[in-house]
Amino acid sequence: MTYAAITGWGKCLPPAVLTNQDLSTFLETNDEWITSRTGIAERRVTHVLPSEMAYVAGARALAGAGFSAADLELIVYGSCTNDEQVPNSASGVQLRLGADKAASMDVDTACTSFLYSLSTATAMIRTGVVTNALVIGVEAISPYMEWENRNVAVLFGDGAAAVVLQRSQEEEGLIGESLGCIAEARHTLRVRGIGGAYVNAGVMLGDTVWDFDGQEIFKRAVRGMAAASKAVMTKSGLNADDIDLVVPHQANLRIIAALAEQIGVTAEKLMLTVQRYGNMSAATVPVALVEALEESRVKPGSLILMPAFGGGLSVCSHLVRWGQRITPLGTTDIDLEPCAESGLELVNAIRAAKAPAGRSKGALQNTIFPETSYKTNGSWQHPNPVGIGWASTSEEYQR
Ligand SMILES: CC(C)(COP(=O)(O)OP(=O)(O)OC[C@H]1O[C@@H](n2cnc3c(N)ncnc32)[C@H](O)[C@@H]1OP(=O)(O)O)[C@@H](O)C(=O)NCCC(=O)NCCS
Repeated sequence: MTYAAITGWGKCLPPAVLTNQDLSTFLETNDEWITSRTGIAERRVTHVLPSEMAYVAGARALAGAGFSAADLELIVYGSCTNDEQVPNSASGVQLRLGADKAASMDVDTACTSFLYSLSTATAMIRTGVVTNALVIGVEAISPYMEWENRNVAVLFGDGAAAVVLQRSQEEEGLIGESLGCIAEARHTLRVRGIGGAYVNAGVMLGDTVWDFDGQEIFKRAVRGMAAASKAVMTKSGLNADDIDLVVPHQANLRIIAALAEQIGVTAEKLMLTVQRYGNMSAATVPVALVEALEESRVKPGSLILMPAFGGGLSVCSHLVRWGQRITPLGTTDIDLEPCAESGLELVNAIRAAKAPAGRSKGALQNTIFPETSYKTNGSWQHPNPVGIGWASTSEEYQR
């Protein structure tokens, strides 16, 4: 049997820190509320494009694997905050790394994008399409954040991490996964303002409105991740006692605690980063994995469970059998350019750039999505079959 061993790993956290106290300078919130409801104390804010963080994380992962970029055959870039729609972001990382032989693709399943990318790359290695891959999870949420909305502004952060996969005959790397999507709840997490539905409609790019039903997402996330975790353990003939370490998506400490209880793992087995970084979407799980290695929480042969959820609502849980090596083979000096601003200064600059606030907000509300279509005679009808969206929002089409 062929497997895809994880032979290198690296992270890139932008240096600027945004504390709960910083947030309370412009939002009606406070450290006590954020810490007690989410566990988050601080998060990072990027001063560079997401592909730059991805490049640094990728270069560090390659150095750790002792693997030359020139020999890379595949780059999978997991993210929902790309530099541009065309060309894809993976090709930008490919160019920066000098990975001339690689194929490059982006994968977007929101917060689960790294894990879906890991599945994609592993499958391509195991089926012989390629023999190695660089898999990246990266997110720059801060430019898209609706900073005046305290329901979401306190939850997210920016960052990146990457792993190198290489074909192996040993049973290691990703050995099982369970993937799913609770599409009936896709409306509970939507960032209005990015994508084709808003094109040519008077929407200023970057002016976003977040639809966010926190309590519904919370419940669905716990149920979904628990179900996916139980499914992958059953499929692999394993149970919670066999798991050495859980590296979960880090959206909220209470979600992780509820998940641990449902799948029957003890608190000592949980890798937690949410306090320091918040929810970095696609970067969350790989950053936590890299830090687990740095803190020697991964041992040779460890069995690692990685459950996650995100917009869609995508859910998944991945089982990784670690190999024998738990230390990097090498390092690199490649780093981000220095950042002179504080996290609060960066965020205030974003807020100022979004002003005059509300310029395009009205235009953000009217788009028709699959869940706002209606069904007649057994088939889905779109209220505006000629163009995308922008039909009037009569009651009939609303949930
Ligand atoms: C968002 C979340 C932290 C909210 O926690 P909660 O305990 O459910 O809080 P509620 O939504 O019930 O809000 C309770 C109160 O706090 C207020 N509140 C919300 N955000 C606040 C903030 N940042 N600061 C202070 N008060 C806040 C609410 O307005 C509400 O006030 P009210 O009781 O007067 O109406 C929680 O639901 C969550 O983490 N959900 C998962 C969402 C997520 O992580 N999504 C990412 C997907 S990858």
